[in-house]
Amino acid sequence: MSTAIVGGASAGLGAAIAEKLAATGHDLLLWSRSEERLAPIAASLRDRHGVAVHTFAADAGDPGAAAAVAERAAEVLTTVDVCVLNAGGPPPATADQTDPDTWRAALQLLTVTPIDLATRVLPGMRQRGFGRIVAVLSSGVREPLPNLAYSNSGRAALAAWLKTLGRQVAADGVTVNGVVPGRIDTERVAQLDAAAAQRSGTDAESVRAASIATIPSGRYGRPEEFAAVVGFLASRESSYVTASMLSCDGGLMRSLT
Ligand SMILES: NC(=O)c1ccc[n+]([C@@H]2O[C@H](COP(=O)([O-])OP(=O)(O)OC[C@H]3O[C@@H](n4cnc5c(N)ncnc54)[C@H](OP(=O)(O)O)[C@@H]3O)[C@@H](O)[C@H]2O)c1
Repeated sequence: MSTAIVGGASAGLGAAIAEKLAATGHDLLLWSRSEERLAPIAASLRDRHGVAVHTFAADAGDPGAAAAVAERAAEVLTTVDVCVLNAGGPPPATADQTDPDTWRAALQLLTVTPIDLATRVLPGMRQRGFGRIVAVLSSGVREPLPNLAYSNSGRAALAAWLKTLGRQVAADGVTVNGVVPGRIDTERVAQLDAAAAQRSGTDAESVRAASIATIPSGRYGRPEEFAAVVGFLASRESSYVTASMLSCDGGLMRSLT
């Protein structure tokens, strides 16, 4: 049996990733800020997939979160084969609206906590000669989004670290990759559309329609489509894919890399 830690697992992309990894035989430690939101997801995964599913509440914005999650994983999973780095997003802001306190909070959430958690599970992975670190990024890493200054920057820093680490540990059987969502249909995207609608004095449906018009596939992605990419990167089959960023965006991004 393989084991995995999945962050932000009470909703959206994290919940879909948990589903995929449970279906492919992983015992899980799921975490987010709310045990209450995690509990029904864990129960359903246990019932349907016959895997062990543990839950843990921690806030990725808290400097102690990574240590607490890693400690809990050591207790309940013993060893960690797969670590999915994921949590919520920071508040929207244009580049001229940022302030130092929100920067510190955003960088803890998006950069420091995932790096800290990956660093803590890495030694065991290297010792055993197998590990998969997969981070949920954002299209802003490739093409910065005008109203997501914190997200663009914090995730770009994480992506640079992942690239550096992936090359460093590639010969140890540990792969390190990021997956770049375009617009996948989750609560977070609905909230961003609603916020954009409010700013521009229109309604969320119009914002969504305008957004869909920019996506070659003609629709938002489904969380399970995104989770399938993460599932591949978490698998043994993906052994020669490392230090990469894979897009799951229906063709949205125009850049070649
Ligand atoms: N969906 C997309 O198309 C898209 C595109 C670009 C980037 N992203 C990024 O991908 C990540 C996941 O997106 P999503 O669409 O799945 O978002 P979502 O539907 O809002 O789900 C976010 C998950 O993260 C948890 N979470 C939020 N804040 C947290 C915190 N401070 N500490 C720990 N857990 C936290 C939430 O659970 P609790 O409330 O229980 O903590 C929830 O399980 C986000 O960072 C988002 O910004 C998504």
